[in-house]
Amino acid sequence: MSIPTPTSDPAASAASFDVAALAALANDFFVQLPNGQAPAAPIQAPEPVLALGNRAPSLAPAAQTQTGVPDKADSAGLGRGNGFAQGVPEAYAALLPQVDLPAPPAQAASLPSGSPYYFLGESSAYPSSGVNVPSEDRVTARSFGLPGEDDLRVLLAGSVPREQAPQAEKKDTWFYFSDLSRPDSSLQPSMQGSAHPLFDVNAVRRDFPILQERVNGKPLVWFDNAATTHKPQAVIDRLAYFYAHENSNIHRAAHELAARATDAYEGARNKVARFIGASFAEEIIFVRGATEAINLVAKTWGAQNIGAGDEIVVSNLEHHANIVPWQQLAVEKGAKLRVIPVDDRGQILLDEYRKLLNDKTKIVAITQVSNALGTVTPVKEIVALAHSVGAKVLVDGAQSVSHMRVNVQALDADFFVFSGHKIFGPTGIGVVYGRRTILESMPPWQGGGNMIADVTFERTVYQAPPNRFEAGTGNIADAVGLGAALDYVDRIGIENIGRYEHDLLAYATQGLLTIPGIRLIGTAPDKASVISFVLKGFTTEEVGKALNREGIAVRTGHHCAQPILRRFGVEQTVRPSLAFYNTREEVDRLVRTSYQLATSRR
Ligand code: ALA
Repeated sequence: MSIPTPTSDPAASAASFDVAALAALANDFFVQLPNGQAPAAPIQAPEPVLALGNRAPSLAPAAQTQTGVPDKADSAGLGRGNGFAQGVPEAYAALLPQVDLPAPPAQAASLPSGSPYYFLGESSAYPSSGVNVPSEDRVTARSFGLPGEDDLRVLLAGSVPREQAPQAEKKDTWFYFSDLSRPDSSLQPSMQGSAHPLFDVNAVRRDFPILQERVNGKPLVWFDNAATTHKPQAVIDRLAYFYAHENSNIHRAAHELAARATDAYEGARNKVARFIGASFAEEIIFVRGATEAINLVAKTWGAQNIGAGDEIVVSNLEHHANIVPWQQLAVEKGAKLRVIPVDDRGQILLDEYRKLLNDKTKIVAITQVSNALGTVTPVKEIVALAHSVGAKVLVDGAQSVSHMRVNVQALDADFFVFSGHKIFGPTGIGVVYGRRTILESMPPWQGGGNMIADVTFERTVYQAPPNRFEAGTGNIADAVGLGAALDYVDRIGIENIGRYEHDLLAYATQGLLTIPGIRLIGTAPDKASVISFVLKGFTTEEVGKALNREGIAVRTGHHCAQPILRRFGVEQTVRPSLAFYNTREEVDRLVRTSYQLATSRR
């Protein structure tokens, strides 16, 4: 059977616009201008040109599929019904030999109820209690300076049937939730029968162009989400828009583009504040990523507040990024690093943690989700216990924000850090949240432009947070891209994401457990989207290569978390990590390929 490949049909692409009619309208329009003059040469309809760069599905008018989902791939001329072009792997999965997999788990009745905000569109659905961030100065597409824009709009409104008019600003939040009354609803089985709005993974997948890639001739299966996530078209478009229309350094008063860039950048700061429930936008500092975020805290607050004999508490689960900066600080200051142990399933031992706390404890630095095991830690209790001895708490949210609702006020965290690229945003942008009173007391860590109030050769006066911590030209565009990623997550609803991933994780775990010789590393009941395993008789590299041959991407190695792997007596694992755009069919391919490898030497 031949595998269909995407085709590009210029006639189909051009079909949605009648270029000749538009040219005629433009000529009519110029004649009607106040000075009544037509352009020297009438506007001609251009010859259709097929450009490689013109495929921008999310900008194209959305056509309705039978499922009610805006079929962007189809609007881009890729043809409907082609599972590969749409990034939907069912057709391929149907060709594969069947593996008997355990029945899916029953819906967990205790899961949190769904967000009621699916219909709110672009604005954040999640105002946090007491939040005091100004509403974003929304940046909208600007006129290119054509005269009489309003007249043109009236002219066009009379000529273009309403239902065909592009609806760029009308966000399609509801399209992610299939309507069961439609006969062609395409649902993932796990969400059927749920009391919650139905999450349509196929609609989500169409937003991520890279999911249409093929690797070794097979449709890509991206199970390396804990390392980095893919970007929806909305983020890609937002970055392009920034560079096409707003690009400038952020020195607001200088000129128009500086004002646009500043608005976009500060708008992103507001979105981050809202997304994690910060009280003030000034509590958000942009950095390169979670690693730089932790270094910032260690080298500013840490250097200022930790001295000889003081104690810093981390857990056995930590990523190297939440160990090394504290270790460096401890060595420098003569302080001590103490480690919360975990049990054999990879769960924090709270009683042991309690014993570590005393009046020398100055800070507890704890991950909310382990990148190597997936364990969700009891951060709220950990924070409360730390505060009871007067210690501050830094929560590493690199692996949590994309899977669960985070509210820094509810957690009572002093610092919370995360990376943009793990939540569908660009690389090179990350966040430090710091409680305002604490940030105000902290010295800067880097010196330069953008962060000063006044400089003489004798002394420097710094600005207030967050500028004090953002010396030099920051990653403006990617901060804006991160804002778009958070908007995207809001539109889907983080509770929907968490619920879907929870089911997929349970399904994958049960499937992998059928493989002879597999050992799961980390089996905590409360886990998020990570499965770590070793396969008897095979190196992790061999497993990774076998999966890659089938187009399946997983991380193998120590995952920058050597202490926790050693706790379980291994140096490396294979680590599939899931996101809400993954499917059961993809899990089946992972299980089948691993199964075939495991049984190949028997
Ligand atoms: N911290 C990232 C991971 O766990 C890179 O893969």
